[in-house]
Amino acid sequence: MRYLFIFLLLTLPFSTIYAEGQITLEKPPASLKQWYKPENKRNVWHHNMFKLRREIQAVNEYMAVKDQPHTEKWAIRLVTHYRKIAEMVPEWRDELELEWADKLEAAAKQGEFEALGKALKKMQSSCKGCHSDYRAQVAAIYRGPDFSKVSVELDGKETSYLDFMKILMRDVNRIKIAAEDDDKARAQAALKDVRSGISILRSSCDSCHKEPQAKEYYLGKKTRKLLDELQTGIDKGDSGHSLGILAVQACAHCHGSHRIVYDLKAEIE
Ligand code: HEC
Ligand code: HEC
Ligand code: HEC
Repeated sequence: MRYLFIFLLLTLPFSTIYAEGQITLEKPPASLKQWYKPENKRNVWHHNMFKLRREIQAVNEYMAVKDQPHTEKWAIRLVTHYRKIAEMVPEWRDELELEWADKLEAAAKQGEFEALGKALKKMQSSCKGCHSDYRAQVAAIYRGPDFSKVSVELDGKETSYLDFMKILMRDVNRIKIAAEDDDKARAQAALKDVRSGISILRSSCDSCHKEPQAKEYYLGKKTRKLLDELQTGIDKGDSGHSLGILAVQACAHCHGSHRIVYDLKAEIE
């Protein structure tokens, strides 16, 4: 026994290292697709999840004050939407605690709050289990932005988003290099290109965002002010700071909310 323990102590760290060497994500079943846009008018799956969360909260709150009629009302909604999971994605039936849902319903009807509490816990463990296995990749695949078909028009030519990004980056870095080497004319010319690049960038947002506020958030007044500051900064030989702030405002913020998710989505789809 003692030897087995020492053996485990010695081997455990190594097996952990092997496990850390790779990331595996389970693919969600294909039948999930029909419950998301664009196949569906709404993201029905996601909305069913919001209902479950609200119903659990209601059951907990009414259970705490032993209000049987309201507990029953919300418990019935909860089990209805919980059972719906198996109808929507039959492949996920095994992830569910359906017999505990039946027990929860019965306990709520009879006002047996202790039994109800136990059944609720069992059901909630199935929420956690499925979420840790699938939630992140489902959100990325079905609700993450897809830039694979987004393009912009650059000098009359249809240009992929990725190629456009490389040009933007080249121009931003050109400002930095020229400013550092005190070539003000070259820095100003590159800034002009960045300005027109940003106005093209603004038009690209419309392919997914109907509301004009979206582009204002990264590429609105604040960005225009930073571009102006940069223009004066270049002439004064002091542009480093404003260029850094501009890159965060006009580039990094959007990468944080769009590019990270798109990269992940493209990798796992
Ligand atoms: C069989 C799998 C499965 C089970 C069981 C499940 N969920 Fe989910 N849940 C998901 C997936 C997948 C997502 C990600 C959906 C998305 O982001 O579009 C999700 C997302 C959610 C979200 C959305 C979180 C957010 O803020 O975007 C909530 C809330 C939620 N689930 C609640 C529950 C509750 C409560 C239960 C248990 C009663 C439950 N879920 C059981 C698969 C499951
Ligand atoms: C390929 C589609 C797509 C394009 C193009 C796109 N977005 Fe988005 N954007 C999304 C998605 C998806 C979300 C996630 C939230 C949602 O569903 O609105 C989002 C969210 C946002 C948000 C809200 C972020 C938050 O957390 O509050 C802002 C602001 C935004 N986008 C700005 C922009 C700007 C500016 C552009 C153009 C430079 C742009 N988007 C281009 C798909 C896109
Ligand atoms: C929609 C919001 C958005 C804005 C604003 C944005 N980007 Fe991007 N950027 C992306 C997305 C999405 C990708 C990934 C494109 C792909 O992989 O097809 C990307 C990729 C990149 C890349 C990687 C190119 C490569 O070789 O992999 C660079 C560099 C880049 N952007 C620079 C910039 C610069 C510089 C700015 C600001 C002037 C900027 N981006 C503004 C969304 C944005």
